[in-house]
Amino acid sequence: MDSRLLDATAELDDTQAELSLRPKFLREYIGQAKIKANLEISIMAARKRGEVLDHVLLFGPPGLGKTTLANIIANEMDARIRTTSGPALERPGDLVAIVTNLEEGEALFIDEIHRLPAQVEEVLYSAMEDFHVDIVIGQGPAARTMKVELPRFTLVGATTRAGLLTAPLRARFGIVHRLDFYDVEALTIIVRRSAEILNIPINPDGATEIARRSRGTPRIANRLLRRVRDYAEVKHEGTVDVSIAREALQMLEVDDYGLDEIDRKILTTIIERFHGGPVGVNALASSIAEDRGTIEDLYEPYLIQIGFLQRTPRGRVVSSIAYEHLGYKPGATRRQSDLFS
Ligand SMILES: Nc1ncnc2c1ncn2[C@@H]1O[C@H](COP(=O)(O)OP(=O)(O)O)[C@@H](O)[C@H]1O
Ligand SMILES: [Mg+2]
Repeated sequence: MDSRLLDATAELDDTQAELSLRPKFLREYIGQAKIKANLEISIMAARKRGEVLDHVLLFGPPGLGKTTLANIIANEMDARIRTTSGPALERPGDLVAIVTNLEEGEALFIDEIHRLPAQVEEVLYSAMEDFHVDIVIGQGPAARTMKVELPRFTLVGATTRAGLLTAPLRARFGIVHRLDFYDVEALTIIVRRSAEILNIPINPDGATEIARRSRGTPRIANRLLRRVRDYAEVKHEGTVDVSIAREALQMLEVDDYGLDEIDRKILTTIIERFHGGPVGVNALASSIAEDRGTIEDLYEPYLIQIGFLQRTPRGRVVSSIAYEHLGYKPGATRRQSDLFS
């Protein structure tokens, strides 16, 4: 299988396509109802008072719409947005140059904010809290610090790894939202919306078939839609329906539930090495050579959402539907097909 097909991180061809598919306003943003309702109130209140919006932290696995939401927030505030990322801000001066050039009311989006170097993060504290930065001028004994006032701005931070954020940074965000995986209904709407923008004829069942296999992730849904379109254009003519979608996705070896390699590895490891669990997350992490935080932040939430994995006080347990999906008899530690080979 083309392993990138189910990887939720953006590839180059996604970046192009995503620009046209990205909703621009809250009302076009599908799903995440609670977040939308809350943001709408925060934004309306700030606008009514003529103030800038409080700093916003968005976290959740890749591909769920954090960058999209950051841009929407700026649009809804009628504000310009500047975009940068944690790793791009190598030195305090990099951040100072950006914040001192902001205009009143602008939004600053820092993606992957958990990857800010510590000294840069220090500078951010005063910038967020009191809208000033201290700049050191000169060197050695003659050095002195100068306080520079900043315009009021809204920082929007995004991270896939909330667990790696320091407590002082996190505490400086007034608005914090965690994005969840999307259900099939919401993803179906997203697929249909994207199909319309891209001029792809598709019927509702075809859209649902793609949605089901998108690992709860809009970015994957949009990618699979494009691949199904390619298939449909070559092999068939006309509307993408459920059978064309199925054929195409089968050819692309996309799992029925959209599981990726690591999802499968987590499940098969628990089944084969830990008799289906319960197993503690540390033991699991070391046996698949992933770190604990990656499993907890990026993988478990989806497996739990589809009912393949349960979190119990004694550890993680694989459910019977996961056994069945992966081709194991209940309680077995070897796959059916491997027993006879
Ligand atoms: N709620 C949504 N409604 C419609 N499309 C969405 C939604 N969330 C994400 N998308 C689509 O998925 C793509 C990936 O979203 P993005 O904001 O880049 O994710 P993240 O920054 O969390 O990795 C976007 O280009 C957009 O087309
Ligand atoms: Mg992003």
